Amino acid sequence: MNILLGITGSIAAYKVLGLIRQRTRRGDQVKTILTRSAQHFTTALSCQTLTGCEVYMEQFVLSQGIKHLALSAWADILVVAPATANIIGKAACGIADDLLSTTIVSFPKPVLFVPAMDTGMWENSIVQRNVRSLREAGYRVLEPASGALASGKTGRGRFPEVELIDRAIDVVNKGLESLEGRNVLITGGRTEEDIDPVRVVTNRSSGTMARELLYAVVARSGNARCIMGPTSITIPEGLDVIQVRTARDMLKEMKQHVPWCDCLIMAAAVGDYTPLKKAAHKVHERTLSLRLEKNADILKTLLPYKQHRYFIGFSLEDQQAVARARKKLRDKGLDCIVLNGRAAIGQDVMQARLLRATGAVQSLGKISKRNYAHHILDMYLRYGIGRT
Ligand SMILES: Cc1cc2nc3c(=O)[nH]c(=O)nc-3n(C[C@H](O)[C@H](O)[C@H](O)COP(=O)(O)O)c2cc1C
Repeated sequence: MNILLGITGSIAAYKVLGLIRQRTRRGDQVKTILTRSAQHFTTALSCQTLTGCEVYMEQFVLSQGIKHLALSAWADILVVAPATANIIGKAACGIADDLLSTTIVSFPKPVLFVPAMDTGMWENSIVQRNVRSLREAGYRVLEPASGALASGKTGRGRFPEVELIDRAIDVVNKGLESLEGRNVLITGGRTEEDIDPVRVVTNRSSGTMARELLYAVVARSGNARCIMGPTSITIPEGLDVIQVRTARDMLKEMKQHVPWCDCLIMAAAVGDYTPLKKAAHKVHERTLSLRLEKNADILKTLLPYKQHRYFIGFSLEDQQAVARARKKLRDKGLDCIVLNGRAAIGQDVMQARLLRATGAVQSLGKISKRNYAHHILDMYLRYGIGRT
């Protein structure tokens, strides 16, 4: 893919070098335009070294034809990252007074803006109106993250993690449908049930699928919230993640957050059993017998909240898989269920079947969890939207 990257005058400009590195390593070609302000925050030398290409800064110095037209013709996608309040305002008004803004106006292919600014700027009603105008005009705008800002304050406006921008570029380039205005609640990871104060009963779920779903929803401009049990993976700062530990905690948080969502994707591997008695002190006996009791069935408990919402479950089965998955689908009142096998645990790829309440079964063969996450969201957009 040929990526034209417009870098503007935000303190976050240095972070975009990580994105250049990631995309060029994967074989993409990246060319950069730096605004005059951006040159205070990152250097043309860094961009040239990492891209291996000339860096474009001046509109009226001709090197090869008319720059904004030549670059528009060359690129498959234009990514403005970080995007200042200034460039967002100019683009929303069609102002073309330097190389980057002129290129935006003349660019006929997909454009992605990745805003980064202080919370006060981001929440300014004029900036928000400009963002809305960009979206209405067909541009994609990635929501900034929440977290620590350069000013020392904490709030929304932070430049999103490179991983997320990377995924948003693929979403925009593939023309995947936007989830703007949709609230998607995801559960992920495993749960832990206490044996004593230091030991737990748990399972091997890694949380990878939930992370991919979370990234996919945000990259498609949806509102994602994740209730996450313990995991072996890191989730970047700035996303709406609620940490839980036990199945009981998971249920408690879900009761609170399900009413917020339009779509629930239950990817967590919730422990089916919990020790009947939890020892108050660390157990030292030579042998230890555990009596386990069933935990509450979260999805069944949440059935009264389902109403118009689209509910997607996961089922990991190693025997009579389809029959068991169908039973779960029915008993838990789900709209569809993803049936996968043990081999998917902790891996980046999976081989799953998707069973819908209508009886339809879809198998995509071996596929990355990253792509499967989008497949699940497409399913929701296709069959769930009319009802939410
Ligand atoms: C230290 C410093 C940090 C800045 N960071 C940001 C920022 O993160 N986001 C933003 O919208 N503007 C930021 N600005 C203001 C812009 O640099 C300024 O509006 C500039 O005119 C933007 O020009 P450009 O959009 O052509 O790059 C910052 C300014 C300074 C001095």
